[in-house]
Amino acid sequence: MEAIRLANALGAELRGVDITGDLSGSEIEAIRKVWNEHHLIVFRGVTMTPPQHIAFSKRFGALDDHASTPHERLDGYPQLLEVTNKPKNGQPSQSRNTGRNWHSDYSYTGRPAAASMLYCTEKPPVGGDTMFCNMARAYDELSDKMKGVVDDFQSVYDINLVSGVSKRDPEKMAVLRELNPPIAHPCVRTHPESGVKALYVSERTSHFDGMNRAESAPIIDYLCRHATRAENVYRHQWRVGDLVCWDNRSTMHIALGDFDPAQPRHMLRTTLQGEPSGHVVPPADL
Ligand code: OGA
Ligand code: MN
Repeated sequence: MEAIRLANALGAELRGVDITGDLSGSEIEAIRKVWNEHHLIVFRGVTMTPPQHIAFSKRFGALDDHASTPHERLDGYPQLLEVTNKPKNGQPSQSRNTGRNWHSDYSYTGRPAAASMLYCTEKPPVGGDTMFCNMARAYDELSDKMKGVVDDFQSVYDINLVSGVSKRDPEKMAVLRELNPPIAHPCVRTHPESGVKALYVSERTSHFDGMNRAESAPIIDYLCRHATRAENVYRHQWRVGDLVCWDNRSTMHIALGDFDPAQPRHMLRTTLQGEPSGHVVPPADL
């Protein structure tokens, strides 16, 4: 197995490993080690079925069944989420504008995702890229004074700040609101495997618990700008057969939407469950 770095801030491509094969425990541990070091790993040229995708993902931990976003599950496979702009049952896909702002997966739930594994099955001829940033590096590069400030903050995540809300089916959106009330998580978290501290704030953070929106907004805005500076980013240009695995505890990502929406883009995602976290809070005081 060979790891080839993809960017200065994060990311490595892994070559010489067949993820659909019978991998030993030590091979999985070797992958996990590279993943923890680089926060994001890419496998290219993968041909796999939904059960193979699920089987490989499970080697790294328990999978989410996506009960928090039930409308986007792949039929027959609750452990796979479809991220697609292809119509579903004659209706526009609910996931066609997924991920268009900087975020970490399932941050608006009581069990934020540890990691995600996104597999590209169809892509537009140009664009449809995804960018990723390193939140451990973002934390590390804050001044000691600022670290001390954010160490005490709780970021409140609000489902209303996911992308494309106005273009989603209102009834389905109401279900999502019911399932996912605003929830506060620590703004700085320690990675359970690497012990590294990382920022946990995003464009889906409405405010900091105990502060109002006016007080919080400039700080959220600053932290997001700081974290997503070009030098802290890896931009993935998809090919069919790519499996991109990212750690949601130490990265954020954004789907750029830099493609012709008339062209099909189809992805399947598994989600590794993180630790239960957070407490439900009242919505932001506007
Ligand atoms: C996701 C996501 C980005 C993309 O699957 O969690 O944000 O580019 N996808 O499809
Ligand atoms: Mn996402």
